[in-house]
Amino acid sequence: MHLIAPSILSADFANLQRDVEMLNHSQADWFHVDVMDGVFVPNISFGLPVISAIKRHATKPLDVHLMIVEPERYLKAFKDAGANVLTVHLEASTHLHRTIAAIKELGMKAGVALNPHTSIDLLIDVAADIDLVCVMSVNPGFGGQKFIENTYDKVRRLKTILIAKNSKALIEIDGGVSESNTQALLECGADVLVAGNAVFAAANPVEMIMKLKDKTP
Ligand code: DX5
Ligand code: ZN
Repeated sequence: MHLIAPSILSADFANLQRDVEMLNHSQADWFHVDVMDGVFVPNISFGLPVISAIKRHATKPLDVHLMIVEPERYLKAFKDAGANVLTVHLEASTHLHRTIAAIKELGMKAGVALNPHTSIDLLIDVAADIDLVCVMSVNPGFGGQKFIENTYDKVRRLKTILIAKNSKALIEIDGGVSESNTQALLECGADVLVAGNAVFAAANPVEMIMKLKDKTP
């Protein structure tokens, strides 16, 4: 069964506790938490104190997506703030193998995210070491963008690599996920669907999460 990870980026930051509790009582599996530094991506979201605050109320794992340069400098800080899954960008980490080992050493699941232009072939040599691959289906930086169609083919190729490398890594899709592409993504091999705008702009977010969860490949 696939997992649904609503993105807090699209929540109402002035009513964060209310939105976290809404997700607690929904069929959401994880909280997707987007950290942007204004350098790796052209936007700034929120940082450690906000994540700690979310952690105080969340009853589900925090899936923290770091869109920051030199992520290796902050691994322990995000662990202390409450991250369960910690994802760094391949493009932002020079010594990715070391970063992955350090994340696991701290007791978190290690994820690697890839920008739309980054070939999944670059993951081959760490495929067996990671717990999650986050395939960006938009250019990172903003919620509510249009889904990039090349993602389907990319996910199929990634699935082949993971099987060949005997990797148990989950495939997460991040960006522009909605009711209309969920089924096709599951058919390509997606395991975790991040949804920001689709959930929070819906008239009934709990119902939308249920709809995304109910799809079958
Ligand atoms: C984009 C973020 C996404 C974003 C997805 O840079 O990494 O997690 O919140 O939002 P939607 O689902 O609205 O595209
Ligand atoms: Zn994200």
